[in-house]
Amino acid sequence: MSRYAYVNGRYVDHREASVHIEDRGYQLADGVYEVVGVRDGRLIDEKLHLDRLDRSLRELRIGWPVARPTLEFIIRELMRRNRLRDGLVYMQVTRGVARRDHAFPTQPVKPALVLTTKNTRRIEADAGAGIAVKSAPDIRWERCDIKTVALLPNVLAKQAARESGAYEAWLIDGQGNVTEGASTNAWIVTRDGELVTRATDNGILAGITRQTLKSMASDLQLKLVERPFSLEEAKQAREAFITSATSFVTPVVKIDGAPVADGKVGPTARRLREEYVRFAAEGEAVT
Ligand code: PDD
Repeated sequence: MSRYAYVNGRYVDHREASVHIEDRGYQLADGVYEVVGVRDGRLIDEKLHLDRLDRSLRELRIGWPVARPTLEFIIRELMRRNRLRDGLVYMQVTRGVARRDHAFPTQPVKPALVLTTKNTRRIEADAGAGIAVKSAPDIRWERCDIKTVALLPNVLAKQAARESGAYEAWLIDGQGNVTEGASTNAWIVTRDGELVTRATDNGILAGITRQTLKSMASDLQLKLVERPFSLEEAKQAREAFITSATSFVTPVVKIDGAPVADGKVGPTARRLREEYVRFAAEGEAVT
């Protein structure tokens, strides 16, 4: 089956898909992106992802490349062409193509829009054995609330984690607190049974999965506290887990080589993952 990508108005063979060498995303990381999870042909929280895309674009003063309903149509058309059932839709908007200069182009340029899809294994309600994380200093800039394609610190931290046998990196700020993962939000369950995740500010990305999980936690009458937590506190926690559009809720059973509690998946993370998988199966199927 041939796979398609969407590039600036055209559905093209994924192997041939390309952008101009002076796309400002390519040269200057002057662009933003979104990743929307897909399960059973259903988009998960599409509206919230497009709301966040709108915010990212506004923060960087990049216009919408197409009207929002048009983007919604393109997302669905690409899913249909690629027969996407489980995986993700990736979309990226850059400021456009212009002769290289750090400042914005003086002549109006059209923002560039690229979409791809990725098939992945179906995420099961069963959490399996959980994952390991490795800490790394958070060396990113002070606007991590914007979902930009400038991801080099995240890339390096994730790679260091993978080389140590861990799946994800947990980024640590100057106070010794966990900000978030390289591409996920970070959570713990304290010994008192409180669910803790850092409050959203410019230091982290306001995850959509995080947002949805907050209302699930409240429905389940779990006590949620949004505050910073240190790496030391995480190592002493009863449970830990990560959230993202692509990992849903994934338990963390090891931090920097040491087991979290007994090193097994705990009941809170297990329950929240089951709930999230149930939620992901709701909604209208596209494919
Ligand atoms: N990453 N924090 C960071 C730095 C992220 O890159 C992501 C998402 C999240 C979780 O956000 P959400 O729940 O909206 O997916 C938190 C995506 C999946 C990625 O870069 O592939």
